[in-house]
Amino acid sequence: AVETTFSIIKPDAVKRNLIGSIYQRFEAAGLKLVAVKMIQLDQAKAAGFYAEHLGRPFYEPLIDFMTSGPIVVQVLQGENAIAKNREIMGKTNFEEAEPGTIRADFASSVRENCVHGSDSVESAQREIAYFFSADEIFAAKS
Ligand code: CMP
Repeated sequence: AVETTFSIIKPDAVKRNLIGSIYQRFEAAGLKLVAVKMIQLDQAKAAGFYAEHLGRPFYEPLIDFMTSGPIVVQVLQGENAIAKNREIMGKTNFEEAEPGTIRADFASSVRENCVHGSDSVESAQREIAYFFSADEIFAAKS
C-alpha cells in the first residue's frame, strides 16, 4: 500500500553536510519528499517527541543531542514507505546495520545515528502531525 512516513535528518548529519546524500537515497528508493523543513528543536519540543523514552538512561543525552543544532524534518510517500525507510536507514545501532544503509555508512554512535524514521502507521501519523500542518504536506491522497 502507498504510505506516508515521517523522517528526521539529525543534527550530526546536518553538521556533516549529509542532507543531499540522504535525500538521494530516499529518492533512489522511490520515496517521494512530500513535505520538508529545517528547524531547531527546543527542549520542550524534543521532550514531547521522545516522551516514550523518558526515564531511559539515554534520554537526557538524546534531548541534548537533538537540540544541539538544526535538523531537517520530512514526510516521505511511497509503496510501503514505513518499512522501506527503515530498511534504508538500517538498525538503530550502526554497528548492527546492514552495509549500504544510511546508519552503517554515516552514523558515528548509537545516539548520533543520522536519521529517525517512524516505526508504524500510528507513529507516522502522530509524528507527521507533531511537525507539519495539513497545508504543508503535498502528498497524493491515498
Ligand atoms: P531513534 O530510534 O530515531 O529514536 C530514539 C533515539 O535514541 C535513537 O534513534 C538514538 O538516537 C537514541 N538511542 C536509542 N538507544 C540508545 C542507546 N542505547 N544509547 C544511546 N542512544 C540511544
